[in-house]
Amino acid sequence: MSKFPSDKPVLVTCGLPYVNGKAHIGHLRTYIPADIFVRSMKKQEQEVVFVCGSDTHGTPIVVNAEQLNTTPGELVRKYHKHFDNTFKKMNVNFDAFGTTDDPENHNRTLDIVSKLIEKGYTYPKTIEIAYCPGCKRFLPDRYVQGICPHCGETARGDECDQGCEKHLESGELKDPKCIVCGENAEYREQEHFFFKLSEFRDFLLEYLENLEGTSNARNYAIGWVKQELMDWCITRNLDWGVKFPGHDKLVVYVWVDAPIGYIAFTEEWAEANNGDWEKFWKGDGRIIHFIGGDITYHHCIFWPAMLKGAGYSQPWAVVASGMVKIEDKTFSKSRGYVVWVGEDYLDHGFHPDLLRYYLVSYTSHTKELNFSWKVFQKKINTELVAVFGNFLYRTLLFAHRNFGEIPVGEIEQDVLDNIDSTIAKVNEAMEQYEFKKAVDFAMALASYGNVYFQSKQPWKLIKEDKAACGKVVANCIQIAKALAILFEPVLPQKMEEAWAQIGMSSDIHVTTYRDATVLVNSGTTLVEPVTLFEKIQDDKIESMVNISNTRVAEALAKESGTKEIEVKDMETEKEKEKIIENENEINKINEEITFDDFSKLDIRIGIVVTAEPVKKSNKLMRLEVDIGEETPRQLVAGIKETHDPEQLIGRQVVVLANLKPAKLCGVESKGMVLAGDIDGAVLLMPEKNVEAGTRVR
Ligand code: 2FM
Ligand code: ZN
Repeated sequence: MSKFPSDKPVLVTCGLPYVNGKAHIGHLRTYIPADIFVRSMKKQEQEVVFVCGSDTHGTPIVVNAEQLNTTPGELVRKYHKHFDNTFKKMNVNFDAFGTTDDPENHNRTLDIVSKLIEKGYTYPKTIEIAYCPGCKRFLPDRYVQGICPHCGETARGDECDQGCEKHLESGELKDPKCIVCGENAEYREQEHFFFKLSEFRDFLLEYLENLEGTSNARNYAIGWVKQELMDWCITRNLDWGVKFPGHDKLVVYVWVDAPIGYIAFTEEWAEANNGDWEKFWKGDGRIIHFIGGDITYHHCIFWPAMLKGAGYSQPWAVVASGMVKIEDKTFSKSRGYVVWVGEDYLDHGFHPDLLRYYLVSYTSHTKELNFSWKVFQKKINTELVAVFGNFLYRTLLFAHRNFGEIPVGEIEQDVLDNIDSTIAKVNEAMEQYEFKKAVDFAMALASYGNVYFQSKQPWKLIKEDKAACGKVVANCIQIAKALAILFEPVLPQKMEEAWAQIGMSSDIHVTTYRDATVLVNSGTTLVEPVTLFEKIQDDKIESMVNISNTRVAEALAKESGTKEIEVKDMETEKEKEKIIENENEINKINEEITFDDFSKLDIRIGIVVTAEPVKKSNKLMRLEVDIGEETPRQLVAGIKETHDPEQLIGRQVVVLANLKPAKLCGVESKGMVLAGDIDGAVLLMPEKNVEAGTRVR
């Protein structure tokens, strides 16, 4: 039984971005699939509202503002605008995009927290709060760093963000330190307010059994509830935030007022559109939360309990996405493994729709997604350009040249059946939040179109039987029309162009899947088509790879530059001495040589043509490098841990060409690839691409 369309209206929300920095590809992994889902719901004729907004409170904001020497208000205004613009540029079309500092959210939070107090779901308790004697203040959440009591990793005050991901209550963190001045913090007693989460155990177990969405969210949450539910401290000592009723010096914990933002933004949508927000939050409308997998606990446990306690409706589904990796490395802004949506993508002229396509077609929604420039290029060139774009262009060009309009011709039952079954499969995949499958089914229809075109050989038919040829072309245009509708959720801007090229004057964004089999109108004038998807050239990708490599190298250099501070904070005295000793050793300059000595070195620029890990070794990679000789040189380099073979191919490296050959793990190396040795190899490369074999002097 299909779930959509349903009589019950659907509200889709996306996890709110903290507006304390720029938007990156990790953010998009939640918003793009959610936008695609919403567009697809509309095509299924499902009533749907899509809201989101900026998360403006809590220590993520206050700490950053302090570090940037600005006020939280200024900071969130700036980045709220930035996120709003980025979403618009990426064609993520929210019906409302507010902020958690809007009056609607202050009021709604006050209402919900007051209800929880009234109903006895909160209680005061004196607890230990980290206090910095240096800064003379209490240190909530991210103001304090220390050791996780559960797994021993470095963690922050409210969450083990680098280890087991557990929520931490105040006082749990071991060896607390102030993140502002680095001083050891002490625990001091203070009265705070707690939410009785533990009272919701039975409710949650039953609720989670029926929770829709992705199974990762539901299963994790059930596991957690079965272990132990701790009450949550819901107040903080901050000036910035939503005041806790009756206590001027306390604000609510950011994880209280942030999800309440979902309600506030629905109210904002309702105000602007004469809509009814209560049908979702007090009635039986279906609330679907799209979130990153790391905030499952908050959405599947804390939030439904809070809603239940305050007498509101609870989410119907939680859709949790997998993590994002950059070039196969764990996403990390500080280590340079990040792709900024603006400066690394849009500003280089890449079309937003291409990234939308990559983000849903790379892997299933709950799995880890790797962003790699080379894979991006390959997917665009071999799928969007070679399959989909090729079908559209060849069909429309042939039609335009030979007919100038959509020719007369009966649409074959097989074509209509294929369109219908594709739509059914796409809908089924969408209902299961299997966006990759949905896109793959749509792409399979494009392949069918290519096979149809090829097998009917219209270029021959046009000479023999123009009417028969017209029929083939009309069928191809019918397929093109269906494809435009099917791909609109993923490629909204490109499909607007395709729609116009097919001679359609309606608005493609309001078409439904039913329109896909409405027969195309013969006689409709066709304009000369232009290719919708251009092949991405190697040099463009190389320059992007260079940018990201440079960023990683810079981050590494910065990290080694700050090693002294880290040593002070993290290492024992003994380890510190050892590190300093080693660094002195490394820093010592070798004994002087003459220019003659130097000129004995034959150093060349080479291009990597083959790269493969040496099986018997953990460290070594076998390379074949073109250094301008007849055949590429075989070299062995200790870069297996730091580099992927795929990344290396086509890259320029610096080679010491006249080093005496040596065997490493049984593989002969005829020379040496030069690299800086800072916590792993950093390959040297020329400032710009030069011919293979260029001498280095
Ligand atoms: O983890 C985060 O980035 C939070 N800003 C998400 C908040 S989602 C919601 F509950 F408001
Ligand atoms: Zn931990």
